Amino acid sequence: MTLKTTTWQGRNLEKLILTKDLAMKKKMTEPEIINFGPGGSVNFMVRYLPSGRKADLSLRQLGIRKFESLIRKTGLFKLNTVEPKEILRIFQELSPKKMYVYDREKKVIRAVERMVKNEVITVPVVATTKDMQKSSVDILGDIVVALNIVSRTRDKMSALANILFATKPGGLICINIQETPEGFKKVGHCIFERLS
Ligand SMILES: C[S@@+](CC[C@H](N)C(=O)[O-])C[C@H]1O[C@@H](n2cnc3c(N)ncnc32)[C@H](O)[C@@H]1O
Repeated sequence: MTLKTTTWQGRNLEKLILTKDLAMKKKMTEPEIINFGPGGSVNFMVRYLPSGRKADLSLRQLGIRKFESLIRKTGLFKLNTVEPKEILRIFQELSPKKMYVYDREKKVIRAVERMVKNEVITVPVVATTKDMQKSSVDILGDIVVALNIVSRTRDKMSALANILFATKPGGLICINIQETPEGFKKVGHCIFERLS
């Protein structure tokens, strides 16, 4: 099985911090957060994976990323996922009420469940395997994070529509798309507020 998922520490730090700052400006408290497609990396490699942009990495660091990518794609290794933890750490000032995590890869969802079980995450978390191309979810998030997921889907229009649908009116979505979607207002780089 080929595992098409990736992530690393600090990949989306700036966008997430900006989303948090905008949420604070809106005086949001106890938000319900949805994290679509958190991604995963090979569990035993997480501590060695360099953080930050590819362009800033040394040859050795690039080699480590490449190696992790090759062994991850075999599907033989247990995964870890850093994004949900990172989001909860960044948004802790707002006292998140609950987090929902969706990914189409079972191994990513299992990684989230392990974190909950090991009490790495203390905010209530619901993690579900889900293909966002097929349908939306039945909850609305005050904050929705969907980074580097739509570009990985075959049916981009459906995936995008289903993800956008999960944003509560007045809520914020952090998503890397170029155009402002209908019914949303751009409030920052890759951050949109749902108007209606
Ligand atoms: C490139 S990773 C991005 C990980 C993380 N958000 C980041 O920016 O580092 C894309 C993630 O989206 C998930 N994904 C791709 N297509 C999906 C779909 N149709 N429905 C749900 N998850 C999907 C993949 O399994 C993977 O975990």
